[in-house]
Amino acid sequence: MGAGPAGLTLARLLEVAGIEAVVIENRSREYVEHRIRAGVLEQGTAELLRDAGVGERMDREGIVHHAIHLQFDGERHRVPLSDLADGRSIVIYGQTEVVKDLIAARLASGLPLLFEVDDVSVHDFDTERPRIGFTHNGEQHELECDVIAGCDGFHGVCRDAIPAGVLETFSRVYPFGWLGILASVAPSIDELVYAHHENGFALLSLRSPVLSRYYVQCRPDENLDEWPDERIWEELQIRTAVEGWTLHEGPILEKGVTGMRSFVAEPMQHGRLYLAGDAAHIVPPTGAKGLNLAINDVCILAEAVVAWCETGSTTGLDGYSAACLRRVWRAEHFSGWMTSMLHSLEGNDPFDLKLQLSQLRYVTTSKAAARSLAENYVGLTTL
Ligand code: FAD
Ligand code: DHB
Repeated sequence: MGAGPAGLTLARLLEVAGIEAVVIENRSREYVEHRIRAGVLEQGTAELLRDAGVGERMDREGIVHHAIHLQFDGERHRVPLSDLADGRSIVIYGQTEVVKDLIAARLASGLPLLFEVDDVSVHDFDTERPRIGFTHNGEQHELECDVIAGCDGFHGVCRDAIPAGVLETFSRVYPFGWLGILASVAPSIDELVYAHHENGFALLSLRSPVLSRYYVQCRPDENLDEWPDERIWEELQIRTAVEGWTLHEGPILEKGVTGMRSFVAEPMQHGRLYLAGDAAHIVPPTGAKGLNLAINDVCILAEAVVAWCETGSTTGLDGYSAACLRRVWRAEHFSGWMTSMLHSLEGNDPFDLKLQLSQLRYVTTSKAAARSLAENYVGLTTL
């Protein structure tokens, strides 16, 4: 269920293993291919896509980065990720591009991928014959299956279909959001910049040599009408200014506001229904972990399904949730930590500000602290 990164990657991994799947998605192909979201792939995510035979364009167009910058007090500090994390790196390649590649591969294989389905419901997943009901092109359908993968995002139907009392949820909503823009201008710096500023956080990222992706901290319910292009550039200029460097402006192609939350539902499974990606957990975007966690979940799920089909063993399926949650909670901590270190906090408590600056100074001067940030950012290999 769901043709986001989780559902499409899972379907691809099952295809490679020769296991049948049907992907159903309630939005149009056009919509899911153009929904601008994440842009940072951990090395492990890039390797998985490559191994699944969908990494060709990523290897051609993706941009490998070996460092990020942390900026505070008007100074920029380079954190050499690869030097600190055993040579590992990240790839800048938009989620939209990952999704386009996965859709193209599935359609090329002639396998079922249904867009614009309606009235989706899941049934009998506490039996050996779960069912999915939906309508497509005005016709009612029922799909009988062995396993349902709920990859239908935070607002999907799968998590809510699990009977009351089964799931325990943990959540935190932040009193701020990100206003993100895609601008038709060459990035002004060739590595990402996470900037702490009294006006609020700002992030400089990119999508290609001619497309910049920038964010500014705003209110979670920010009205975009109050943010004409000039105001966005003005805030970006103020928050990312350093001496001797210029932020180049250009036409804004897209803008949107994302609220921020942390959320985990445990366990990530019930009977033959397995939740993956945003359907089970949300992280604030500051650690660039959302997409990477989604791909990690379905990698574990695919392995478990393959083992079950090939050997009859349910060990992998039984342990699915526990295996995923180790990385999920690590990412929750890392993303929450990055968020609290870099954003203007409610009330602007001067004590909090001093702690943030002390923490930023520490991670940019202590090799031990920087290494901890780096290994989390590029993706831990030890979980
Ligand atoms: P999704 O990408 O949400 O995919 C779920 C799919 O299920 C969707 O296509 C949806 O249409 C479909 N669906 C929903 N309900 C149904 C249904 N009933 N039936 C069938 N299909 C259904 N992460 C970062 O790391 N950096 C970022 O900058 C960043 N920005 C983001 C901005 C926004 C606005 C959002 C919402 C998320 C952002 N994220 C970001 C998080 C990251 O994009 C997600 O973690 C990632 O998309 C998770 O993939 P997924 O496949 O689990 O879920
Ligand atoms: C991007 C998004 C993030 O959440 C992040 O931490 C870094 C980069 C991006 O969209 O490029």
